[in-house]
Amino acid sequence: MKSRSIVILISGRGSNMRSLVEANLPDCRIAVISNRPDAAGLAYARERGLATAVVDHRAHATRPAFDAALAEAIDAHGADLVVLAGFMRILGVDFVARYQGRLLNIHPSLLPAFPGTHTHAQALAAGVRIHGCTVHFVTPALDSGPIVIQAAVPVLPDDDPDTLAARVLAQEHVIYPQAVRWFLAGQLQLTAAGQVRLSAGAGRAATAALIAPQTDAA
Ligand code: GAR
Repeated sequence: MKSRSIVILISGRGSNMRSLVEANLPDCRIAVISNRPDAAGLAYARERGLATAVVDHRAHATRPAFDAALAEAIDAHGADLVVLAGFMRILGVDFVARYQGRLLNIHPSLLPAFPGTHTHAQALAAGVRIHGCTVHFVTPALDSGPIVIQAAVPVLPDDDPDTLAARVLAQEHVIYPQAVRWFLAGQLQLTAAGQVRLSAGAGRAATAALIAPQTDAA
């Protein structure tokens, strides 16, 4: 099988990027691009010998100019799939259209609940008992788009945003490699009508519940 090219976009720590690199995805080359020269994840990517690049948003006067420079850097790798992994810039309509059907994002909430930032604090403030994370195809609206897979975790009585974030992050590191594996295997597609198509086996796995809330009577 022809080797595929995955470009992972990061802005910071890069733990999701790391989980993808360490997932031993079959037949693919991975490159990492950051919009921040000081992103901690870049050091890891360089240590692993991956191709890296920085497209600093501060060097571009407008959003379209930044998006164009980013697209040029992505296309230099002939990307089959673009993976947003903690990439904290809003991308324009033209950029999103250019990569339609091959642009994935992970968000630390059970979308459509809690888009935006500080999702764990939002979940605690709302008093939800179940929280989680979502992998979705990207559409122009912020943190929205056809959902590929979600993982749920319980919210515990003594949680603070950090403990809850850690529980969710562990699941992010499970579902993102899973979604990318499906994509590479041709089991995951975005239809022309904008819906997620998963092959039967993948679809069953995607809907399997990851938690079973318990009652006192258990
Ligand atoms: C992750 O929790 C990811 O879901 C979130 O940023 C974190 C990045 O961590 N993304 C968003 O909030 C996107 N709206 P990482 O750099 O360690 O992967």
